[in-house]
Amino acid sequence: MNAEPQVRADGRIEEARKRVFIKTYGCQMNVYDSERMADALAPHGYVETTDQDEADLILLNTCHIREKASEKVYSELGRLQSLRQRRAAAGKSTMIGVAGCVAQAEGDEIIARAPMVDLVFGPQSYHKLPELIERATTERLVETDLAGEDKFDHLPPPSRKAAVSRGYSAFLTVQEGCDKFCTFCVVPYTRGAETSRPIAQIVAEARDLAAAGVREITLLGQNVNAYHGLDDTGASVGLAELLYRLAEIEGLDRLRYTTSHPRDMDRDLIAAHRDLPQLMPYLHLPIQSGSDAILKSMNRRHTRDDYLRLVEKIRAARPDIALSGDFIVGFPGETDADFAETMRLIEEVGYASAFSFKYSPRPGTPGAEMDDQVDPDLASARLTELQALLKRQQVLFNRSMLGREMDVLLERPGRKPGQLAGRSPYLQAVHLDAPEDLIGTIQKVLVAGIGTNSLDCALVTKASFQTGRFGSRIDSQS
Ligand code: SAH
Ligand code: SF4
Ligand code: F3S
Repeated sequence: MNAEPQVRADGRIEEARKRVFIKTYGCQMNVYDSERMADALAPHGYVETTDQDEADLILLNTCHIREKASEKVYSELGRLQSLRQRRAAAGKSTMIGVAGCVAQAEGDEIIARAPMVDLVFGPQSYHKLPELIERATTERLVETDLAGEDKFDHLPPPSRKAAVSRGYSAFLTVQEGCDKFCTFCVVPYTRGAETSRPIAQIVAEARDLAAAGVREITLLGQNVNAYHGLDDTGASVGLAELLYRLAEIEGLDRLRYTTSHPRDMDRDLIAAHRDLPQLMPYLHLPIQSGSDAILKSMNRRHTRDDYLRLVEKIRAARPDIALSGDFIVGFPGETDADFAETMRLIEEVGYASAFSFKYSPRPGTPGAEMDDQVDPDLASARLTELQALLKRQQVLFNRSMLGREMDVLLERPGRKPGQLAGRSPYLQAVHLDAPEDLIGTIQKVLVAGIGTNSLDCALVTKASFQTGRFGSRIDSQS
């Protein structure tokens, strides 16, 4: 690749730096993966850039979950073709790689359809990235093996410098893949079978993050509460045990996890919500539909009643917990009555926030083969109705915060001068006037007003959670 050593004005030779631009689509697991790819490339002289035009290597980390997400990749590749030509005219070469779930699902098709792509590689080969790039200088290649060695045994941990630059709230993947095979979903095909990282590996990574100043970690997994990693004695333990272990780490004040499947919310995990103050009172617990017939046809393997009873138990354990969910409308066979059941369930549960989607038939999934596909216009109308209800609930939830005190993790400067931005325990965006030296600390605030997408707050005390330890993020090690 072109990144020749440069002779500086003072005559010294400057080490060649190659620049990598990573564009991330899809879920938080892709965000985490992109960070780890950057970490894997750093020892090989790559620095991340946010400017595509100066990148020697461009990686698209893609999402296959719905058709729209998937198609974005091809339009982006079209744009990259002209960027590559522009750079070539200036004598610079550009390598283009496609990673993520579209790469896994459509590797050969991408190579055939997109001549500008040098390299296609799936989520289980990120640890091999430096070697793949080397090989891709002489051949176009597709690397989509799902089995094989465990990438987490080989991926370098984030450097202190990288962790610091990524902020006070971090993602940490603890589980990957899915064995549930919901009939609408591509994840079991793009991410493979469920696997869990060992406890010790996760605890070590979390300690490093905490030492770099990270105050909040969100544990990630396609099916995170199916986590069953090995502990130090070789026994397999669940997510609750992992959370207790992480809660012992000094400086880690907030823990979250996502995404959970209702079938895997076991008793220990529910109890952790009662007993662990670090575990934030916010839970993403998708149900997808409120109709038993549709749940069955989606292969969710639980009923609406199972879900409602589960919500009751969780709320009994942690009365202030806020719930969020995912919903799909227009799944094959969904009648007006099925849709009404979903609306009724939403009314019954009351969500603090939620994601909702129009069903997108995905090639290779059983849902795409079902006969009674729903008319797309009807599905759109249902989506509008459902989103209006969810929005009303979100506004109500936010309004219920007015006049309350809460702890907020202050993460960055706000939009206006003198303002800081952060997150409430319920993941709401928060703005308040506060000095910059409070960034990276948790502060007690009073909710003084409700904006469209955030809470306007006022600082109550500067003393309660001041750490001192991590007050400054200026870092000398890397
Ligand atoms: N593991 C999570 C979901 C991962 S996918 C779970 O079990 O809930 C994230 C969300 O995308 C899903 O919850 C679902 O609401 C949506 N989704 C997945 N496949 C879809 C499809 N084919 N069409 C529309 N939405 C879909
Ligand atoms: Fe997809 Fe279902 Fe697995 Fe979630 S549980 S990732 S929706 S197959
Ligand atoms: Fe998309 Fe893959 Fe995540 S399909 S939602 S990027 S697991």
